[in-house]
Amino acid sequence: MIIKSISLTNFRNHDTYRLDCNKDTTLILGENGCGKTSVLEAICILTRGKSFRATDPDIIKRGKSFYRIELEYNNGETRIATYDNKTKTFICFNKKSRRLPIKARYPVVLFLPSDLNLVSGSPSRHRDYFDHIFSELNNEYNESLSKYEKALHQRNELLKTDQPSKDSLFSWNLLLARYGTILNKKRYELIELINQNLNSVYHSIAENNDIISLSYKTELKNISESEYLKALEQNLTKDLYLGHTSFGIHRDDFEFIFNGKIANGSASRGETRSLILALKFVEAKIFEEKLGKKPIILLDDVFSELDNPRRKCLIDNFKDNQVIITSVEEVTY
Ligand SMILES: Nc1ncnc2c1ncn2[C@@H]1O[C@H](COP(=O)(O)OP(=O)(O)O)[C@@H](O)[C@H]1O
Ligand SMILES: [Mg+2]
Repeated sequence: MIIKSISLTNFRNHDTYRLDCNKDTTLILGENGCGKTSVLEAICILTRGKSFRATDPDIIKRGKSFYRIELEYNNGETRIATYDNKTKTFICFNKKSRRLPIKARYPVVLFLPSDLNLVSGSPSRHRDYFDHIFSELNNEYNESLSKYEKALHQRNELLKTDQPSKDSLFSWNLLLARYGTILNKKRYELIELINQNLNSVYHSIAENNDIISLSYKTELKNISESEYLKALEQNLTKDLYLGHTSFGIHRDDFEFIFNGKIANGSASRGETRSLILALKFVEAKIFEEKLGKKPIILLDDVFSELDNPRRKCLIDNFKDNQVIITSVEEVTY
């Protein structure tokens, strides 16, 4: 689908704002702080279901009692979200709901300047990044992750109390083992899917023989549910001492590998940029293949970070997608 327009009311610094989009490229130009990224944020709320940088109390314009955003697609469908300091409401297909319904979602590939630092980022940053992609690609992943995170939070809260009940701990262990096993297996599969595409896409950008891949680092090599449960029980004394859960898929990492070495520290700045570009291209490719929808590409201020050949590559690669770009200055390449 193609976004026709997006309208904001009391959203971040905007009182009212409307962007009419082209079906190919739309450029949002403006000084720093004028509210460009906020427009992409609103698009994400109405396509992915949530913001990439904040929760609703931060988003509502200071001093106002509500925000409202409305997205219109070229086929006439609309998505609306409102928030009134208490309740978030989506209106899609003439129905109200608390969350964006799955069938109202649409894949977007978001490219933020901070993504260019992903290679050197922490394990939790890597997990957040790939968890997000995997959740969009696979609904079972999405649901398992949210159940896993809830169970982990509850178990950690319990570990902090004096003499937590063994029965309660066991019931959280069961959930962690069940969903942790699913997520572990899916992570192997989905990283493999990215790796099947990453090298050829990288070579279309970098035109050399470098070999790149993503490596899934985990303590849990295709572990069974009962082995997972056993490991949680074996770690209990340690966990009680630490006050948190020390074993599980929430400790995994995804590392970028460049010519057989960890890319962080071995790949140059330019190579790292090409690597991230390749990752974005692969994201778009697998979203389209797996979801059957051509993703909308949101490029937030990334042109200023890239040299001309890479800018051209970005534009060429996404020439058949709808692309929305924010920038402080006219975009040249
Ligand atoms: N809840 C809010 N109410 C009012 N202004 C806000 C709110 N949240 C952020 N801002 C301001 O909105 C502006 C827009 O931010 P942003 O969309 O990131 O701008 P840009 O991407 O153009 O640099 C910033 O100046 C920020 O201080
Ligand atoms: Mg910005």
